[in-house]
Amino acid sequence: MQQKKITIFDTTLRDGEQTPGCQLMPEQKIKIAQKLEALGVDVIEAGFPISSAGDFEAVQAIAQQIQSTTVCALSRAIEEDIKVAAEALKFAKFPRIHTGIGTSPTHMKYKLKASPEQIIERAVAAVSFAKKQVEDVEFYAEDAGRSDTVFLAKVIEAVIKAGATTVNIPDTTGYCLPNEYGHKIAYLKQNVKGIDQVIISAHCHNDLGLATANAIEAIKNGAEQIECTINGIGERAGNTAMEEVVMIINQHESLPFYTNIDTTKFAAISRLVANQMNMPVQANKAIIGSNAFAHSSGIHQDGIIKHRETYEIINPSSVGVETSSIVLTARSGRAALAFRAKEIGMTIEGKELDLAYQKFLIAADQQKVIQQDDLYQLLKTI
Ligand code: KIV
Ligand code: ZN
Repeated sequence: MQQKKITIFDTTLRDGEQTPGCQLMPEQKIKIAQKLEALGVDVIEAGFPISSAGDFEAVQAIAQQIQSTTVCALSRAIEEDIKVAAEALKFAKFPRIHTGIGTSPTHMKYKLKASPEQIIERAVAAVSFAKKQVEDVEFYAEDAGRSDTVFLAKVIEAVIKAGATTVNIPDTTGYCLPNEYGHKIAYLKQNVKGIDQVIISAHCHNDLGLATANAIEAIKNGAEQIECTINGIGERAGNTAMEEVVMIINQHESLPFYTNIDTTKFAAISRLVANQMNMPVQANKAIIGSNAFAHSSGIHQDGIIKHRETYEIINPSSVGVETSSIVLTARSGRAALAFRAKEIGMTIEGKELDLAYQKFLIAADQQKVIQQDDLYQLLKTI
């Protein structure tokens, strides 16, 4: 089957950095940007230059350092924002300006206090102005998820005519169901003049836990770019997690897509982002959580010891995790105990194993996890 390339647009340093408490210093942003380039992302959204002098400096430094990846800066549909974004991107090899405006009834009425016609005018003016600064212009229709699809199509058609090269359809509030979001993308693909000349981008938020599902539904319906963050960090409940969408694409042969991401770097970059942003990853987070390849119940451990694929659909080494782990808890069985004992050079079988297991259960009922040292002490007495 012919496979289509999906552009990975990373917004860890912009939407991700909007997470409360996760703000980064310019040096930290540069460090992460370098790792994102090595990871193989196609676009790095480095920041929102007009928001502060520090962010301007960070975007400018990233633009100077990054060689092979597009560097993008965010702006509102305001000339001054766009000018400052262009200035920050001046030294980028591949600069992109990401500009846009709200298109939902709620945003138009309460935030922008503008009519639908005025919104189209402002959107077109912003894209035309950005196009004078750089060739690569991405337009975002903020809150597209709650926008009227027919009106959205009108806006998108107008900005394509004005020169947008990528059109971003954000589900800003994480509201859409996957079939609704997929339908929106399909509608644009079928009804907007010029849409085949541009890239449609999916930008999903996780307020209902649907950010990853919605991004996948988008590419199934014609989107060719996914906007995402490492560890799924971002405003409120976060954004689509890069490691999730990329691994879904890789694991499912029925999805005719590929990305340029070197997935073996996921574990390391996840740790880097968590440490720099002071934002620990939940243990049960898909792909990069500390429990993602940990097995603790007896039935699962027995299966894993016999063959890894009984309970794992991903080879841990493919995402940079050395190996699966067998965790000893009061739910573990004899097979796991014997396996872990062997790992520390102690072979136990038959009656010895029965005795060790009884002692182990008594200890495990009092302790959540039996660590290697505890295990060694316990087995020494057998
Ligand atoms: O969620 C959103 O709508 C955004 C835009 C600024 C692209 O982050
Ligand atoms: Zn967003």
